[in-house]
Formats: sequence, C-alpha cells, structure tokens
Amino acid sequence: MFFSRKVITEDQLVDLHGKVAIVTGGNTGIGYATIEFLARKGARVYMGSRNQGRAQKAIEEIEAKLQKSGNDNQASIHWLQLDLLDPRSVKEAATEFIAKEERLDILGDSPFGPYYLNQDGLLDVMVVNYISHFVLTETLLPLLRRTATLDDSDVRIVNVSSTSHTYVTTDSFVGKENLNKQFGDTLTGYLITYENSKLANILHIKNLQTRLNAQSSPITCLAIHPGAVMTVGVSGFLNSVPFFGWFLKVILGPLFLTSWTQGAMTSAFAAAGKEVAETRKSKDEVERRKYEGGYLVPVANISEPSTYAKDERLQRELYETTIEVLGEMGIVF
Ligand SMILES: NC(=O)c1ccc[n+]([C@@H]2O[C@H](COP(=O)([O-])OP(=O)(O)OC[C@H]3O[C@@H](n4cnc5c(N)ncnc54)[C@H](OP(=O)(O)O)[C@@H]3O)[C@@H](O)[C@H]2O)c1
Repeated sequence: MFFSRKVITEDQLVDLHGKVAIVTGGNTGIGYATIEFLARKGARVYMGSRNQGRAQKAIEEIEAKLQKSGNDNQASIHWLQLDLLDPRSVKEAATEFIAKEERLDILGDSPFGPYYLNQDGLLDVMVVNYISHFVLTETLLPLLRRTATLDDSDVRIVNVSSTSHTYVTTDSFVGKENLNKQFGDTLTGYLITYENSKLANILHIKNLQTRLNAQSSPITCLAIHPGAVMTVGVSGFLNSVPFFGWFLKVILGPLFLTSWTQGAMTSAFAAAGKEVAETRKSKDEVERRKYEGGYLVPVANISEPSTYAKDERLQRELYETTIEVLGEMGIVF
C-alpha cells in the first residue's frame, strides 16, 4: 500500500514549551525520531526505555543533533525506566512519574515486541505492544485529565498501530484466550499475531476516546500508521525471512522503506500538529471532533481502519478482558 510522502515540517507543529511528553520505544526508530520532533518544539520529553545505556546514548545523540542544527531549544530529554514486557514495572514507572511531574500533555507508544508466553501466561507481543501501554495510559489518566483542565492545554494520546491490522479478522476479545490468540507457527502466522496487537492498539484508542468523551474530558486520542520504515525491528524481521529476506532488505528496502524521520511525521503530527490544535477550537461540532479517536496514515491523513477496529463491541470486550487479566495480576486502576 502506498501513502503520500509529503512532509510535516517543524512549523506545522505547535510550540511545546512548558509541555511534558512521554514516548515509549524511544531509543530507536520511529519513537526516537518522534522524540526529536517534540524536543525541537521545546517539550520536556521522557524516553520510555528498558535499557539505560541505549536510552542515554539516544538522548545524547538527539541533544547533539538539535545543537548542531542551531535549534534554539535546550533539549530536555530524560530516561523513564520501564520494561514493556513487565506490566508491573510499567505501573511502577507511571506511579513514580505522577509523583514527580505536575502535568502530562502527550503520551505516545511505539514499541515493537516478540512472540512468547510470559510468566503470567500472556503473549509477549500483546504485552509489549498493547497491554503495557494500556497500563501506562490508565495509570497516567488522572494526570492527563488534570492537565486537560489547565488553560491552553491540548492533551493528546497517540498509539502507534499499523495498516497491517486490516489483515486480522477476529470476532471476539472475550477472555484471556482471545488476547493470547496465535495465528499459526509460520512467518505469516507470526505476522498476523503481531497485527492482532496492532488491532488492539486501535480498539484501545477508540474505547478510550469514548470513555473520555463520556466524562467530558477534552483529550484527543489518535492511532496512527507510520508507513513502511527501515528500522531495527523491520531489519530484524527481514533477516528472518528465508531466501528473499536479503533481497527485500538490500534491493527493495531502499525503494519502499522510508527513514525514521519520515516515519515519525505522522506520530509527530498526531502529538503536536497545529491543524489538530486549530480543529479543536472550531465552533462546528463535527469539525471540532474531527480527530477524536481518529486513525491517521502518512502523512497526517485521516483514514478508515478495519471494520473490526471500529466495532464497539470488540472495543468493549478488549477493555473488559484487559481489566480482568490485569486484575488477576494484581494490577488495578
Ligand atoms: N517500521 C515500520 O515499518 C512500521 C510499520 C508499521 C507500524 N510500525 C509500528 O511502529 C512502532 C515502532 O516501530 P519501529 O519499527 O520504530 O521499532 P524499532 O525500531 O524496532 O524500535 C522498537 C522500540 O521498542 C522498544 N522495545 C521493545 N521491547 C521493549 C520492552 N520490553 N520494553 C521497553 N521498550 C521496548 C525497543 O527498545 P530496545 O532497544 O530496548 O529493544 C525500541 O526502542 C511499533 O509499534 C511498530 O509496530 C512500524
């Protein structure tokens, strides 16, 4: 599938001085480039990452890039320690964050996870890509909602999904077995299992928007597809493809895969796009709600996700099952 390669420039993003953001999966790839966009606009950004060495290296690199490019903002990027394989560590990190920071304006998730059952009997790819982000979001929700009551606030929650979610057909998210559903022990099966977690990202964002709207909390929740981007995760996947992997990576990769920066443009737009901010102020209700619960594809275009992603029953089922499973693990909200 081909998407527009137009670009989002810094002047299409709002000023973020005084604003606070968290981006997970930020020490490389799309998350890294998203942090760079937000730091360039003056935000204080927390890089959610499990490895201090990798986080510190990435932070230093981004700081050096900002300085070298003559960006006036003193980058303020900090490591937020969390392991998305372990929802309990995520809950802890979010609770500590609330004790430390008075506001949170942008919450973005961008991890890329593996495929095993963990000690809680949950599928890792679901835990890293969806469940841990659910824990992070729900724990931080009181702070996000409080921030949304401040003057001039424009709070946004962004889930990085994928257009590949459209390949998943599922009729139920009732019970742990559906959360853990695997689609076969082949490369295609692994891909669909991954895509199921990307479907969960959209179901989550839509359910969250519905709940926040019911509470009249003016927060914009968005899911995005970043495009096809050459990252560590994609490179690792292509390496695992028998026979054609090398060809795909070396020959087709440069033709069809974009850079990290290009790949971060849709998430940067979702997190800080001026157009989103201006739309929120519209007097027309339909226009004002244009981005709420929306699904964006490159670059910054509203698109329709799959019929499964839009299914309110599935959205509710996923929410209820997640709460139930986390409750069994002693994680309550
Ligand atoms: N690249 C694409 O073409 C593409 C297309 C569609 C959607 N996406 C989505 O875009 C997002 C970012 O993908 P990417 O390609 O930029 O990924 P990536 O370059 O492989 O980076 C993945 C990030 O997730 C982090 N991560 C993985 N497991 C973690 C854990 N247990 N705890 C904390 N952090 C963890 C990694 O940290 P470590 O360094 O510690 O592993 C890394 O920072 C993903 O949600 C992916 O599904 C990507």
